[in-house]
Amino acid sequence: MPIETTVSVVAEVPDDAELLAVPYTSDLTPSYAAGLHLPAPDVLAHYEAKGEAGEIVEVPVATGGGVGRVLLYGVGDGSPRALRKAASALTRKAKGRDTLTVVVPEGDQEAFTEAALLAAYTYKIGKAGKKAVRTLTFAGADEAQVERARIVARAVSLARDLANTPSSVKNPAWLAERAAERGVPVRVWDEEQLQAGGFGGILAVGRGSASPPRLIQLSYTPAEPVDRHVVLVGKGITFDSGGLSLKPTDNMKTQKTDMAGGAVVIAVLGALAELGAPIRVTGLVAAAENMPSGTAQRPSDVITHYGGRTVEVLNTDAEGRLVLADALAYADAVLDPDAVVDLATLTGAITVALGRNVGAVYASDDTLAKQLVEAGQATDDRLWRMPLIEDYTPALESSIADLANVEAGSRFGAGSITAALFLREFAGRRPWAHLDIAGVGRSTVDDGVLSKGATGFGVRLLLEWLTCG
Ligand code: BES
Ligand code: MN
Ligand code: ZN
Repeated sequence: MPIETTVSVVAEVPDDAELLAVPYTSDLTPSYAAGLHLPAPDVLAHYEAKGEAGEIVEVPVATGGGVGRVLLYGVGDGSPRALRKAASALTRKAKGRDTLTVVVPEGDQEAFTEAALLAAYTYKIGKAGKKAVRTLTFAGADEAQVERARIVARAVSLARDLANTPSSVKNPAWLAERAAERGVPVRVWDEEQLQAGGFGGILAVGRGSASPPRLIQLSYTPAEPVDRHVVLVGKGITFDSGGLSLKPTDNMKTQKTDMAGGAVVIAVLGALAELGAPIRVTGLVAAAENMPSGTAQRPSDVITHYGGRTVEVLNTDAEGRLVLADALAYADAVLDPDAVVDLATLTGAITVALGRNVGAVYASDDTLAKQLVEAGQATDDRLWRMPLIEDYTPALESSIADLANVEAGSRFGAGSITAALFLREFAGRRPWAHLDIAGVGRSTVDDGVLSKGATGFGVRLLLEWLTCG
């Protein structure tokens, strides 16, 4: 369910706000100052408020009709990061209320208002729990920045919704239908067309499922395109049981979000027009359900990818790289992009390396890596560049095929790096980056702009990169 909170902007603080939030650093308007009876700085001193981002001091004020509340809030060092923390704390504080009026702080209003909205995101099937605040009113905010924040937050919430949807609902065909609702031209390859096209990786992974695989292509062309074409590729495994290399229960129960990369691609393609992106962008989502059955691929099968390369499948749970290989090879052979970026919940190993707050970026091109890391820094979808360690390429060797999908032995380890090296084999010679978002794609807690479940990680950074470059 999308963010249900509505947003409005007002020039002046209304005199009768039910719930008003004011930064420590701003003066109260005269009517609230009078209603408070004590100077706000004295109240803050009394509560030993430190001014940290996320800190909120709630005080009653006399209003015309009765008692209202003012939330005095800290903004820390006023950096975008601090403002995001302050804003999300306010939204969470206002849970279950009708309206929250916020006097915006100095600094990055887009980051502030975007975070306020994102913290209102919830995914519930049924009626459990308090609802997010119904209306957020920003006083004294810049309309253009709030509008951009609203578009970005909506895209993030779409990516979260898609990834949070149970896999009993979300099969590859369902994902293609959601892609077709984004207002851009969409092409979908069904099973027969995948067969005819030679997409052996996507087909092999989808073979065990009653819901057949799809390749989904979304195309954004601006009215006056500048001469640059970016291809985004998303892993779209609508459920990853592991296949015949079956996962244990505890590892399997989170795997409805294994299409988080594909969800990001769909959501980004749907927001580019509204944000006025100047370049051509093609999205590819390689969608399949990885299930064990009598028709499933077996460990030791050899498959032929788009373009003709053969791969020995030693572990059917290393399926993400198999569907991505087809899409990357197709992008290189047919779409003629200037840069390719793939996003995938690819390996448990990256969570060991970087944890849940920072995503991994691998890149064949230093400029591309730098741009993505900077876009991540600016939007708080933080990335850390990981190395493509050449010494580990023998991990991909197979005795019977061109490549193996996992290391046959255990000499190299480095599960996220060897997965990236596998993908590189299919990306061609173009600038290519791979984001391993297995750690950051899902949150285990309600905290800051994140709520438990899918995070939409990648939407903010890609929209920044594609529209502000
Ligand atoms: N979808 C998983 C990776 C994953 C794990 C995502 C945990 C989110 C949370 C991926 O398909 C997978 O199973 N990877 C294997 C690779 C291994 C078999 C080489 C892994 O990480 O264990
Ligand atoms: Mn897997
Ligand atoms: Zn997977």
